[in-house]
Amino acid sequence: MPFFASDLPLPETDLSFDQLEPGVDQRWSTWPSIIPTMRGPEPRPSWVVTSSGAFDTELGIVKTGKEADVFLIERAEPGHPGAVMAAKRYRGPQQRDFHRSSMYEEGRRTRSTRDSRAIANKSSYGRSVAAEHWSVAEFEAMSRLYELGAPVPYPVQVNGTELLMEFIGSGRTAAPRLAQVSPTRDHLDQVVELMHLIARAGFAHGDLSPYNLLVHEGRVVVIDLPQIVDAVSNPNGLDLLHRDCVNVATWFTRQRVPVDAEELFAELLVELW
Ligand SMILES: Nc1ncnc2c1ncn2[C@@H]1O[C@H](COP(=O)(O)OP(=O)(O)O)[C@@H](O)[C@H]1O
Ligand SMILES: [Mg+2]
Repeated sequence: MPFFASDLPLPETDLSFDQLEPGVDQRWSTWPSIIPTMRGPEPRPSWVVTSSGAFDTELGIVKTGKEADVFLIERAEPGHPGAVMAAKRYRGPQQRDFHRSSMYEEGRRTRSTRDSRAIANKSSYGRSVAAEHWSVAEFEAMSRLYELGAPVPYPVQVNGTELLMEFIGSGRTAAPRLAQVSPTRDHLDQVVELMHLIARAGFAHGDLSPYNLLVHEGRVVVIDLPQIVDAVSNPNGLDLLHRDCVNVATWFTRQRVPVDAEELFAELLVELW
């Protein structure tokens, strides 16, 4: 028998409190339109809101960047507690400068030669393909590392140039970057451990620094993964891994938590083979 929503009795609630359409700074939750491969790994954390009656509400900007801006959004069914998430939106045509070099791109395949040519020419079409490419690359890297148990934000979904992920912070306040805290030996141990995990999976982060590590309730979380590379098959993989080691070791050592970059690099090389 066909089912019509209009057959249902109206809810007993006061309709003035029951919002029926998205308001200003809101949209319908994009979740229902996301194909399964663009949704985060299962089992999904219980806080992920999957109801098709939910709205996404813009709460503000977390950080603007060169290639992407990070916003705070809340996904909730009207009248229900929702989930606060970070929305990382890559810049499309015109708004983006191409800081991430082709170094990361060597050996990586795009969908078609037309797309590769367009990206290389930096045409407007190329820029939108590239922006979407980075968001999907970051989503896939985050999903892979999450499944391996690495401390990354849970990737909720990717939709075009927008990646939605777990917000690392308390309430609406983002967790500080490692660069903003006085590091301890325990922070270093956590960073070294996550570097081992990433290397064991065959990757180099490629942009690891105290700006891409957040510290939340004593726990270090790694972010900003679009440029992650295959450490062995990418011709620049080992150089990038080495640079990650130097960035991390130099910073910790300056902060009086000494660590040797070359020793760290040597340990990680062992993980690759
Ligand atoms: N999931 C998140 N939770 C909380 N803050 C985040 C999250 N993702 C990013 N941020 C904040 O936004 C900043 C920029 O994000 P990032 O992914 O490093 O992009 P980029 O450096 O390319 O602009 C981070 O340094 C961090 O302060
Ligand atoms: Mg960053």
